[in-house]
Amino acid sequence: NQVEQMDIIKNSIRSIPGWPIKGVTFRDITTLMQDPDINRKTTDIFFDRYKNMAIDKVVGIDARGFVFGAILAHQLHVGFVPVRKKGKLPYKTISESYSLEYGKDTLEIHEDAIKKGERVIIMDDLIATGGTIGATVKLVEKIGGHIVECAFVVELPDLKGRSRLNGHSIFSIVAFD
Ligand code: PRP
Ligand code: ADE
Ligand code: MG
Repeated sequence: NQVEQMDIIKNSIRSIPGWPIKGVTFRDITTLMQDPDINRKTTDIFFDRYKNMAIDKVVGIDARGFVFGAILAHQLHVGFVPVRKKGKLPYKTISESYSLEYGKDTLEIHEDAIKKGERVIIMDDLIATGGTIGATVKLVEKIGGHIVECAFVVELPDLKGRSRLNGHSIFSIVAFD
């Protein structure tokens, strides 16, 4: 059943205290991805949720959001749009700087990657402080995308990422304190 599935997914994620900096416990999804059955369980949850929602594009966030985002785009048979760390996209871009649980960075999107009014799912592996998704929401909205939902495998509710996304729907499969 569903509760057991979520426990299996949660238990497959490895936790590393004190990485990359003191005070952070890193939730490592590589151990989830290594298991083909658990990987498929995870991606099927997203597919079942979005398959009848007339989605036009999936936006995946560099780097870990590419894994789940590209699989979802493939399953939905819609286009995939990468939001990348600065300096990686070759065409005309717009940028947003942000801070996250353990640092700061800048994200970019190609300005023609989404058509006005297209229905978008934004995918990342994890929401912590919400800095990364907050910057991505701004980028997608600036080029005219309609955000249907922001989707994550993992949520860290103590860091209150949801509160930075007021008005946007957030979905996550598992939570860690
Ligand atoms: C991690 C994670 C999320 C973000 C969440 O990415 O993959 O994208 O942090 O943190 P926040 O909610 O506090 O913004 P990171 O930038 O470490 O790099 P990666 O995805 O390239 O591994
Ligand atoms: N990104 C931000 N905080 C994180 C954490 N605790 N584990 C994995 N990725 C993260
Ligand atoms: Mg990331």
